[in-house]
Amino acid sequence: MNVSDSEVVVSILEKEGYTLTEDQAEADLIFVNTCSIRDHAEKRVRNRMQEFKHLKTKKSNLKIGVLGCMAERLKTTLLEEEKFVDMVVGPDAYRDLPKLIKETESGRQMVNVELSLEETYADITPVRLDKNGVSGFISIMRGCDNYCAYCVVPYTRGHERSRDPKSILAEAQDMVAKGYKEVTLLGQNVNSFHWKEDGVEVGFADLMRMVAAVSPQLRVRFATSHPKDISDELIETIAKVPNICNSIHLPVQSGSSSCLKRMKRVYTREWYLNRIEKIKELIPDCGLSTDIICGFSGETEDEHKDTVSLMKQVSYDYAFMFKYSERPDTFAANKMPDDVPEDIKGQRLQEVIAIQQASSLKNNKNDIGKVFEVLVENVSKRSTEQMSGRTQQNKVMVFNRKDTKIGDYIKVKCMDCTAATLLGEIVE
Ligand code: 5AD
Ligand code: SF4
Repeated sequence: MNVSDSEVVVSILEKEGYTLTEDQAEADLIFVNTCSIRDHAEKRVRNRMQEFKHLKTKKSNLKIGVLGCMAERLKTTLLEEEKFVDMVVGPDAYRDLPKLIKETESGRQMVNVELSLEETYADITPVRLDKNGVSGFISIMRGCDNYCAYCVVPYTRGHERSRDPKSILAEAQDMVAKGYKEVTLLGQNVNSFHWKEDGVEVGFADLMRMVAAVSPQLRVRFATSHPKDISDELIETIAKVPNICNSIHLPVQSGSSSCLKRMKRVYTREWYLNRIEKIKELIPDCGLSTDIICGFSGETEDEHKDTVSLMKQVSYDYAFMFKYSERPDTFAANKMPDDVPEDIKGQRLQEVIAIQQASSLKNNKNDIGKVFEVLVENVSKRSTEQMSGRTQQNKVMVFNRKDTKIGDYIKVKCMDCTAATLLGEIVE
């Protein structure tokens, strides 16, 4: 999501005559687009900022700006703590950047952290920052109204709002015209996408169908969905439309209904497993991934065991796994103690990682002998004779390149695997 936001920022600045540089030492202006989701993310930003501080001692006219969630969370405090920072700009204030930059010329520190109920940057064509020109993002909504107890996002990215589907389709058409082969529709909770105009309502399943209809050569993916409203209609749509990828990221967070209740996730273990059953019934080859938090406030050994058993039952292809990190001013930080000791959090995380590793390997071994449609994305890091791409299920496939090019769709037979990668041979 931050990459997608940075693409909007670059677009706004290019209109003002700025150009992007890959060389930090050459820059007159450096923006760091920040994440507040866990303390670790913020620590990394702080470390990175020290580098910029050092650069500024060598180049006094260099301007430094902090964008995104940390800017929104810390506001003017950030300027007090990091005196060398010139601008602090929240996720809904990027249109104001040209004005803010000008104002800093007099040496003043500037802040705009106003959140908006409407801003979706719908009319701004992002400058794509991906390297391969094959897969890109389209932001379809911003903000979040779910207020999960542990999460800082509703406070840093504001209320949920959907973007006009006409502008989403125009962006998809533009990407196809530029040769893109894959688009990921982005939002904190894409299933609650909703647009109403002239009495016509467009929901997320409708939007997916519309984007998929732009070109049969365009793969459509989405991230992220909330289990509470992943509807049968959406699952049926993914099953039916060939270029909507058979891959769903469905963050469960915990396998325990009591823990989910404390997390304010508003679904139970049974509800979640029912959704997974429906997915497996309608899309038997669907790639499945999730997010897991270990050691949330009050998490008991039994609750952790429920997470372990759920992971074994679902057998995800991939998971993002985290230790609970208390975020200031969230519901959990205000009302619930961060009471699972650090070493227990660590042990539970290691256990969950080991289970995921085993599931990934088991699922990949099941793919041996099967033929997949692969979108070629990169030359392999290990050997220029090999290339890599992804299957619809979002698994990385490495194969001998023959005469394939980046952006080709090819059929590859899986011959071998590791827990992270499929190894195959081109069959067509
Ligand atoms: N601590 C740990 N992980 C968190 N996430 C969100 N907030 C926190 C937190 N306070 C995780 C969730 C979410 C993912 C993007 O980050 O798993 O789905
Ligand atoms: Fe955070 Fe929950 Fe919103 Fe996801 S749905 S961004 S976890 S509040």
